[in-house]
Amino acid sequence: MSLLASIEQQEKETHAAIDAASSTAELDEVRVRVLGKKGSLTALLRGMAEVAPEERVTIGTAVNAARDSLEAALAARKTTLESAALTQRIEAEALDISLPGRAHPLGTQHLINRLTEEIVEVFRGIGYSVVEGTEVELDYYNFTALNYTDDHPARGMQDTFYVVDRSGDVAAVQGESDVMLRTQTSGAQVHAMEEQKPPIYVLSPGRVFRRDVADPSHLPQFTQIEGLVVDKSITFGDLKGTLDFFCKQIFGPERKTRFRPHYFPFTEPSAEVDVSCGICNGEGCRFCKGTGWLEILGCGMVDPNVFGFVNIDPEEYSGFAFGMGVERIACLKYNVPDLRMLLEGDMRFLRQF
Ligand code: DAH
Repeated sequence: MSLLASIEQQEKETHAAIDAASSTAELDEVRVRVLGKKGSLTALLRGMAEVAPEERVTIGTAVNAARDSLEAALAARKTTLESAALTQRIEAEALDISLPGRAHPLGTQHLINRLTEEIVEVFRGIGYSVVEGTEVELDYYNFTALNYTDDHPARGMQDTFYVVDRSGDVAAVQGESDVMLRTQTSGAQVHAMEEQKPPIYVLSPGRVFRRDVADPSHLPQFTQIEGLVVDKSITFGDLKGTLDFFCKQIFGPERKTRFRPHYFPFTEPSAEVDVSCGICNGEGCRFCKGTGWLEILGCGMVDPNVFGFVNIDPEEYSGFAFGMGVERIACLKYNVPDLRMLLEGDMRFLRQF
């Protein structure tokens, strides 16, 4: 084969090899094999000395042209392979952003906890601070220091869960234990007055327990919020203004309140507070049993006898107290007909709030 023909063939084969290279590494092998220092085309150029002088120009031109053409083809193929590799990598790493995310089911606050916080925030906003009591309480705080006489019916076994020792001591079971599950948060008043000096503006939310069978309007365990104010010249007018403000914050500005005389051992005078029925606007309906009013809490002026237990001088200070059941307020606010629904944990019910 003539030298020219062999150059032509080499060029053709190399072009084919370049086109066939499927990676830049393979392409580089082709380049080294043909155009490298020891490459076949390079060898031809080196061997020019042996070519007859009259053929040198022709051969030299052919070799140079072949090299230029191959170099251009190598560069073009390299670009193609690199961009193909890039495309492939992008595709492999691509995120399918249309894929729906994984839902992590989040818990939410129970209606009662949320309403408790809402009520606490109303009073925090007018300067009250929160004190925490304990669910296990002494008779002294739950009853005695709140001016419950020894024979008060609320001390009887029908109302109170007493904590007995492991032997189930009969005397304790019969109500002679001093240790009990508190039946009301009112004991927090006594603790607060023992621990703080007036002026006192406190709120105490917590769980209370009573030996009641659950029915639409009773629960053996529920949540109360106690309030206590002790300061100079506190009047019943302050109590009325405070609780009217509270009711409007929780139930809405259009709601009215009324105070009915009542009896509690630790307040004198005492009252129960009603809020106007939100369903009939006070006209009277089934929800308010035709009265137009819904009872929401108990309250009164701190009885001087209670001040006596905590050594606060009733000549210098006066105060008011109030207590409310959060479950009851929830039922009235959200038209829930049965207190037990708040304790059952049925998600179909709870999800509505
Ligand atoms: N502790 C009372 C109850 O459980 C509610 C109550 C009434 C609390 C009057 C008070 C109050 O602080 O002044 O029925």
